[in-house]
Amino acid sequence: MRVVINGKVFDIPPGVKFSELAHLIEKAGIEFGCTDGQCGVCVARVVKGLECLNEPSPEEEETLWRIGASDEEQRLVCQLVIVKEDCDEIVIESD
Ligand code: FES
Repeated sequence: MRVVINGKVFDIPPGVKFSELAHLIEKAGIEFGCTDGQCGVCVARVVKGLECLNEPSPEEEETLWRIGASDEEQRLVCQLVIVKEDCDEIVIESD
């Protein structure tokens, strides 16, 4: 699926955890640290296509809460997985 991160276009298939593509996604200006949902540095805003992504796990929700990211569209990029293919595209922007 077409995923636009800070204006850079990626083709990411469903079922792949975005942390596996951290080396590519960081070229779009997303910073990664732990890549397992603990540190919170990869937080960004899903401005389009949130409904095609996995729900946040309790661990992700805890990290988001700890870093003060309280909007529903704020997610940890390392934890994202495309779970539905019926979006035209997913658009993500760092704050
Ligand atoms: S890289 Fe640490 S939470 Fe995503």
